[in-house]
Amino acid sequence: MVCLWSFTLPTKIIFGADTLKRLKDCVDEIKPKKIFLVTGRSSMEKLGITSKIKSMLDYEIVVFNQVEPNPSDTTVDKGIMLCRENNCDLVIGLGGGSAMDAGKTIAILAENNGLTKEYLRKEKTIEHKGIPYIAVPTTAGTGSEADNAAVITDSEIKKKLVVRHDYMYPCFAIVDPELTMSMPRKLTAVTGLDALSHALETYWSKKANSLIEAISLKAIELIYHNLPNACKQPKIIYRENMSLASTLAGISLAIGTNVMHSISYPLTIRYGIPHGHACGLTIIETMTFNADAIPEKMKAIANITGTSDIHEGIENFRNMINNLGLPMRLSELGVDKNDIPLLAEESITRRLELNPKPIEPKDIEKILLNIY
Ligand SMILES: [Fe+2]
Repeated sequence: MVCLWSFTLPTKIIFGADTLKRLKDCVDEIKPKKIFLVTGRSSMEKLGITSKIKSMLDYEIVVFNQVEPNPSDTTVDKGIMLCRENNCDLVIGLGGGSAMDAGKTIAILAENNGLTKEYLRKEKTIEHKGIPYIAVPTTAGTGSEADNAAVITDSEIKKKLVVRHDYMYPCFAIVDPELTMSMPRKLTAVTGLDALSHALETYWSKKANSLIEAISLKAIELIYHNLPNACKQPKIIYRENMSLASTLAGISLAIGTNVMHSISYPLTIRYGIPHGHACGLTIIETMTFNADAIPEKMKAIANITGTSDIHEGIENFRNMINNLGLPMRLSELGVDKNDIPLLAEESITRRLELNPKPIEPKDIEKILLNIY
């Protein structure tokens, strides 16, 4: 049966090595009076990317370089104030998921009243279009450049929550794999596991349609064959394939994430485990948990690894992930075993309803114990 579906991607994606130079054309199309450039605290300056962009663009630019990893609502609120005070009429988000999600939220909420936390808690809804937003990723994983959502940490209740609206799609995404070449091995691995989680979760999601499945499966294939090499060798071809996988999985993120992301949030909030790493920890256990509910999809995933046997396919993914050089056990990451029931309880979010198999706190406890 072919299900009915519709899909709109309003973002113009410009992909390929050295496409950063196309940023000027995109900005010229928007013709802003003043640009608000949102970045992390120092890496973009250290790498010279901020100054490269400044010299490339003949526009007044206000730099907001205060975005921390897992950006908080208060940082975003500060950015919105500064963006409004300076009458900026274009936002560029430059960096990994944190800078891009913060930039995206600043762009939309600059034109919508209220505090960021009110939108995170669904006390307010987005009513107006934001100011134009351009995403320039410098990692390959988040997919934020191609989706309509931003994950921001509510600093009062200490939860990672989502703001999502179709007005939040970037107008342009410049995906230049050259910008990811300087990523160290660990960041490459961690962001790659984030992309793999997006691709797997959207592939098996209850909301998946034929288009999403095709896109996600291609992303899974690209990641399986390129992530280990991208971690080991600084060759552009592996970076290109990982950037492509990240953007493809980002397109699929229109239907949201589910199980690995739900379990990751308390691990990141309580133990500071980076987002992609926290998602990657449970990939193998959740594949195993879901397998009997989605045999055909799991066979397609196994096929990518050169086998038609589901369990062999899962083992091949386990080996691929274990070879990335990241600690993959909770006991190695400072997690207290006594916290597992609490972590399982805190993992319960509405997005779990999209997992193809019902999952309860006791199942999550088991998953966490298996990776302890
Ligand atoms: Fe993610």
